[in-house]
Amino acid sequence: MTQLSAAQSPAPKERTSDSSKTLYGGKGTRRITVRDITAAKERGEKWPMLTAYDAMTASVFDEAGIPVMLVGDSAGNCHLGYDTTVPVTLDEMAILSAAVVRGTSRALIVADLPFGSYQEGPVQALRSATRLVKEAGVGAVKLEGGERSLAQTELLVSSGIPVMSHLGLTPQSVNTMGYRVQGRGEEAAHQLLRDAKSAEAAGAFAVVLELVPAELAAEVTRSLHIPTVGIGAGSACDAQVLVWTDMLGLTGGKMPRFVKQYADLRGVMGDAAKAFAEDVVGGAFPAAEHAVH
Ligand code: KIV
Repeated sequence: MTQLSAAQSPAPKERTSDSSKTLYGGKGTRRITVRDITAAKERGEKWPMLTAYDAMTASVFDEAGIPVMLVGDSAGNCHLGYDTTVPVTLDEMAILSAAVVRGTSRALIVADLPFGSYQEGPVQALRSATRLVKEAGVGAVKLEGGERSLAQTELLVSSGIPVMSHLGLTPQSVNTMGYRVQGRGEEAAHQLLRDAKSAEAAGAFAVVLELVPAELAAEVTRSLHIPTVGIGAGSACDAQVLVWTDMLGLTGGKMPRFVKQYADLRGVMGDAAKAFAEDVVGGAFPAAEHAVH
């Protein structure tokens, strides 16, 4: 058995946290890449991800240090006025993704491949993802499914396009699956674990786990070398994602239990709109200082 000399042996893994390199709070100004995401898992660093659908909102999150932004097809419900994510088109995703890229300089931008843009097979997936990378300038794409999207993930990754996989509740399958917690019961839990391992083996750099029991999400997180990004999947995931309009209280109606609301933008905006309307109707706006002479 040969022994490596000290000079030949690989340097020991860095264990201390170097805050200049952390995803959140790091001082670097260059754009974050999937290699930084892999390094964060090795360091055991947790990180936040938010959705974004327009340049201005994305610029606020970029300035706040959010390291990864998802141009989710949740834009269907939260930005474009559809009832589900199903009608969202590749053209719409390309326009929204390009705007988010233009509004940011540091965050890694991941764009969803919308329903119907990759299910036909790997070649369709590559054509769709290539558009988002070339036209919009995103750094990675996300697609739903583990084993069922294995061939797509393999071709994208081998073609140089990083892939984030999405498991658990996959909203593009709402017509077959509904919006229910996934992975309950032994067989469903085994399938979720197989899907996660299959996404990792195919080369995905991260896996979103949506609406999955916390214990199962913890087991998946322990079993993978790539990070898990939880939404309604408990605290053991390596990262957490929220839909920005939910997180800031802009979405109307009842919120799912896993959403934490950090502001009441709907209230703030509604009150401001009413104040403006009352000023116009009552003649208080424009005042002398708003006039141009
Ligand atoms: O489209 C989206 O916003 C998503 C997140 C919920 C992960 O897929």
